[in-house]
Amino acid sequence: MKPRKIKEDVYWVGAIDWDRRLFDELIPLPDGTSYNAYLVKGDEKTALIDTVDPTMADVLIDNLKQLGVKNIDYVVANHAEQDHSGALPQVLRQYPDAKVVVTAKCKNLLMNMLLIHQNRIMTVEDGESLSLGGKTLEFIHAPWVHWPETMFAYLREDGILFTCDLFGSHFATSDLYVTDEAAVYEAAKRYYAEIMMPFRKVIERNLEKIKDLQINMVAPSHGPLYDKPEFILEAYRDWIYAPPKNIVVLPYVSMHGSTKKMVEYFVGALVERGLTVKQFNLAKTDIGKLAIALVDAATIVVGSPTVLAGPHPNVVYAVYLANALRPKLKFASIIGSYGWGGRMVEQITGMLSNLKVELLEPVVIKGFPKEESFRALDRLADQILNKHKEQKLIK
Ligand code: FEO
Repeated sequence: MKPRKIKEDVYWVGAIDWDRRLFDELIPLPDGTSYNAYLVKGDEKTALIDTVDPTMADVLIDNLKQLGVKNIDYVVANHAEQDHSGALPQVLRQYPDAKVVVTAKCKNLLMNMLLIHQNRIMTVEDGESLSLGGKTLEFIHAPWVHWPETMFAYLREDGILFTCDLFGSHFATSDLYVTDEAAVYEAAKRYYAEIMMPFRKVIERNLEKIKDLQINMVAPSHGPLYDKPEFILEAYRDWIYAPPKNIVVLPYVSMHGSTKKMVEYFVGALVERGLTVKQFNLAKTDIGKLAIALVDAATIVVGSPTVLAGPHPNVVYAVYLANALRPKLKFASIIGSYGWGGRMVEQITGMLSNLKVELLEPVVIKGFPKEESFRALDRLADQILNKHKEQKLIK
């Protein structure tokens, strides 16, 4: 992709990674991703905002050459993670006068992770600004979006907020701006769930810091830009502030059909009572879909067989993830089956320490479900319905 003009003397110079399918060797990327970097040319100085993943450093350097960039004065590193900072060493070799502009925490990380010499780095305070001549960059410290060192850069004259990870989406597209809103909403929600949701409370404070800015455009470092910023700002307000919805998330595994039979019956019982259920077979599902569902759900019910006296390993993985992502969940329960015994319930509940959930009486049975098993599942469905009614999630 060639450089793209955004505004007068402001260009997108990043790289699109159509083929990447995994991030951090953990997060599925069904739609690829992009590493957005931006060039801002003032009358006197030139700044590059963020770089790209080191695997695509040549693409960034080539884009800068295509624009005829002979000198860069500042490279703003909003975030130290390598998908944005990894091409810094190459950029600094190519542009020997460039200084890296960062928060103090970011300086430390870049020196340690990328071995960048301290003489090449200058730190900026929260609220400090840098004049490029006719273009002014204002820096807003915004910790924990996604690491402790993160900040935003605000281009005052054009009203562009460069947010790096915040508001991003892993979504490779040839469109510079959001065109397919439904597709980007899904990708941005997945991104929020996997990257930002654990820091929900801190993000509230960061949103507060930018609420009075005149934002004409949000330019994140993954996915398309938002030329209608309200689209993503409104989505974040819903994901962060709104109460959970009348949704039960049901991740499960079944080895010999007993837990599956319970899940099938239980889902029917919940739906009959007017609850929405999102069911995920952990042997098959894209774990990112489960993360997305956790953004809005009020209740999680985990379905597991008993393996070596504990939960199935796929269930352990999903419960660990749900606990780490710290969603808004209010209630939790467990359904499942065992052959001769075990401590499956204790092990799962012991992994939910981050979640402020009320544990509803689990239904764990011996062998294949029988009539009394179904009645117990009915009682659990009744209890969830009543809890959702108490929370005014359902009439
Ligand atoms: Fe896109 Fe936290 O890096």
